[in-house]
Amino acid sequence: MDSGQLPSRSYIPKSPHGPFPYSPADLTPMDVGNDSSFYNVPRFVTHIDDNAILNLRKYYDSVLPRQGRILDFCSSWISHYPPEVQDAAAAGTLDVLGVGMNAPELSKNPALKGWAVQDLNEDPEVRLPGSREGNLDASTCVVSIDYLTRPVEVLQSIRRQTNEGGQVHLIVSSRCFPSKAVGRWLDVGEEERLDMVGDYLWWSGWRNIEIQTLVVGTWRRDPLWVVRGENIAKSAGTPVGRVLV
Ligand SMILES: C[S@@+](CC[C@H](N)C(=O)[O-])C[C@H]1O[C@@H](n2cnc3c(N)ncnc32)[C@H](O)[C@@H]1O
Repeated sequence: MDSGQLPSRSYIPKSPHGPFPYSPADLTPMDVGNDSSFYNVPRFVTHIDDNAILNLRKYYDSVLPRQGRILDFCSSWISHYPPEVQDAAAAGTLDVLGVGMNAPELSKNPALKGWAVQDLNEDPEVRLPGSREGNLDASTCVVSIDYLTRPVEVLQSIRRQTNEGGQVHLIVSSRCFPSKAVGRWLDVGEEERLDMVGDYLWWSGWRNIEIQTLVVGTWRRDPLWVVRGENIAKSAGTPVGRVLV
């Protein structure tokens, strides 16, 4: 990946002091609820192609810390972390935690030191495995933000548990389970989806939000973007609030 050649832009909210710009219908999938049964069967597959995985690993290599604590949320049997991050986890300098929906998948993920099953649409307060609240240096979420019906509450919860200067990296591609993606995701094009994810971050208090292309998609290869934000201030520990829509 030569990221210098690929488009990258700052995200700018259209109405930074206005209310969260999406309606309940925008955030409701065709198949509401039942997430536990939908994800009950393990899927030992990759959801993006090999080229996207290669470029995602390179991206992670350039941004993820080698010390501290990382969370992979909406995780599965694979986190796509590069060998350097896996080595730091194996050496014990880096704690890698995972939250997902399927225990057999999470138990096979070699990167994870600890993991927990949690339906974030039922309970958006992210509970780190082992009751180890907080102190995150980075979080990742791969091709899954489109399934979260309460994304702002989830991202607020993660921000509250993130150290000052820590980042969240939301990876987006073009494939999805259509019945489970939130309504607006299926109604708009790529640029609007990326701005929507930027809006999720803005309204949950993340700042320095940027949108970067990791792979330009073609008819034969998956596109890949990251929408990332930074926690610029130590949170005062505000409880998760309802988002006004
Ligand atoms: C397309 S898979 C991606 C999995 C993984 N990130 C990867 O790259 O292989 C979508 C994932 O979203 C997560 N997910 C979907 N609905 C969820 C929910 N209600 N709560 C928590 N996680 C959810 C599940 O963990 C599921 O594995």
